[in-house]
Amino acid sequence: MLYALTPSDLLSLLLFILPAYVANATPVIMGGGDGIDGGMHWVDGRRVLGKGKTLRGTLSGILAGTIVGIILGVLAPGWFLAGFALSTKLIIAFLLSLGAMAGDIFGSFIKRRMGFADGGKVEFLDQLLFLAGALVFALPFFVPSLLQVILLAALTYLIHKLTNWAAHKLKLKNVPW
Ligand code: CTP
Ligand code: MG
Repeated sequence: MLYALTPSDLLSLLLFILPAYVANATPVIMGGGDGIDGGMHWVDGRRVLGKGKTLRGTLSGILAGTIVGIILGVLAPGWFLAGFALSTKLIIAFLLSLGAMAGDIFGSFIKRRMGFADGGKVEFLDQLLFLAGALVFALPFFVPSLLQVILLAALTYLIHKLTNWAAHKLKLKNVPW
C-alpha cells in the first residue's frame, strides 16, 4: 500500500514526518536518568551508546511522536497520511517515532565506535540518522519516492540545524548542534 503523496506537496511531506521530528526533539527536554546502555562498555573500552541516550528520553520521544500523530490524524485528516484509517495513522506515527529513536541511537553507537565523545558533532549523522530510522520503520506502510527522500533529507538537515541552534539559544542544549 503506497501513500499517494505528490512530490511537490511539501506540507503533507512535512506533516508526515512531524511525529519523527517530535520524537527526536522531546528527549532534549524530557531526557535524563539512566543511559539505555546501562553504563556498559564495548570491546573498544568506550560506552556502548553513551550518557546522551537515556531510557526516559527514548520512551518520552516515542510517546510524544505517537501522540502528535493521533492529534494530526484527528485535526488534519486530509493532510496527514490522507487515505489511511485513523488507527493505521496511529501505527505509522508510532513506527516513525520508534524508528527515529532507533536511528538516533544507532547514530550514537557509530559515534562512540568512531571515538567521538558524548555530544560530539558529526555532520550528517547527527541530523539524518533519525530520519533514516523513521523512514525504514515506516516502510511497511509508506514507501517514499527517491524525490521524497531527497526532499526530506534536505529539509530535515536544515530544520535540525535551525532547531538545535534555537534550543542552544534557549539554553535547552549545551551545544548548538
Ligand atoms: N536524549 C535522551 N535520550 C535519547 C536521545 C536524547 O535522553 N534517546 C537527550 C540527552 O540529554 C541528550 C540530548 O537529548 O544529551 C540531546 O540528544 P542528542 O544530540 O541526540 O545526543 P548527544 O548528547 O549529542 O549524544 P550523542 O553524541 O550520542 O549523539
Ligand atoms: Mg547531539
